[in-house]
Amino acid sequence: LPLQLDPILVEKGGYKHHMLREINEVPEALLRTLSSVQKRYLNLAGRLVTGADNIYIIANGTSLHAGMIASYYFSELAGISPIVTSAAEFPLYYLENVGPGTLVIAISQSGETGDVLSSLYEAKLRGATILGITNYVGSRLARLSNLYLPIAAGPEIAVPATKTFTSTLQVLYLVALSSSRQKGKIEESEQKARLEAIKKLAQSLDERLAFIDSEATKAAEKISLCRSGYVVSRGLTYPLALEGALKLKEASYFHAEGVEAGEFKHGPFVLVEQGFATIFIMPVEKVSAEATFPSIEMARQTGATVVVIGSENNQKLLELSQDGVTTIRAVETERHLAPISLAVPLQLLAYRLGEKLNRPIDTPRHLVKAVTQ
Ligand code: AGP
Repeated sequence: LPLQLDPILVEKGGYKHHMLREINEVPEALLRTLSSVQKRYLNLAGRLVTGADNIYIIANGTSLHAGMIASYYFSELAGISPIVTSAAEFPLYYLENVGPGTLVIAISQSGETGDVLSSLYEAKLRGATILGITNYVGSRLARLSNLYLPIAAGPEIAVPATKTFTSTLQVLYLVALSSSRQKGKIEESEQKARLEAIKKLAQSLDERLAFIDSEATKAAEKISLCRSGYVVSRGLTYPLALEGALKLKEASYFHAEGVEAGEFKHGPFVLVEQGFATIFIMPVEKVSAEATFPSIEMARQTGATVVVIGSENNQKLLELSQDGVTTIRAVETERHLAPISLAVPLQLLAYRLGEKLNRPIDTPRHLVKAVTQ
């Protein structure tokens, strides 16, 4: 983008908002994360995970959604099932089982979130080990942690978190891979191949971002005519539905709820009609995707606005788009990296809707970047 002599625009790298700049920085942030997380510390993190008696993942908001996706990573790659909970719940309900064998994985891009820090004080008092994941190495979270891993996404100014989310997911994926390797579940060659896949994803994202943005802009036009909506998905991408709904609220003041696709027909469907938006994130598992098709058809038949987000080569997505459904085609990548790839169209959709509705995207009312109390 050509830089004009407008100090505000210059500060935002030529973009209209920090959020848009930060989404465009996702690919370079992913590469920076990859080179910043040192192998030695990753091995150590993997050992902490495999050696723990019990594991809690605690975080808030977007970081909590990253933690929820990570629980699939740990379960599928390392056969370990951590308990994921909001940092606001942890000290109230979970401390009884926290002791010297407990590992608490605390995620906070700011490293200053009050609920996360107070949970950590409590956990430390009981002898737990803390693995901190933060974008700010000088933060209190980093100082309270026995071991911390940097998100290294670079500064993030907009209140709606974007590039820190995708890079956090990457750090958690790297830790899960390291745990998997230490449990002998994957070979070193596979671990390396998966790291290569991250580089490939970053490169493809960089090349395709403008195209994804153009599709997200068209989808946002349609959604701008709706009064409310759902973001629906299942499995690995269900937490992404929650994250998409959160981004829509923050960036565009659009009321949206994240719905687990299997639950769609158990109640949420009642609200679906003309003027209601249903945004489906195509699940990455074939079986889960197929189980979601009927819900997409049900929503279409009501006359609701339907948007489907999926990987570019997904056959069903192509068919739906030929059939007149609004689709956004994300970069094709390997299964565990799909939440990173699919997060970008959701972020762009929320941004473009906020722009269309003329919202204060970078500074939504009532919210601050770090909730310290
Ligand atoms: C994200 O878009 C939100 N602004 C918010 O939910 C945020 O993720 C939450 O407050 C946690 O922040 P942290 O990662 O800095 O701890």
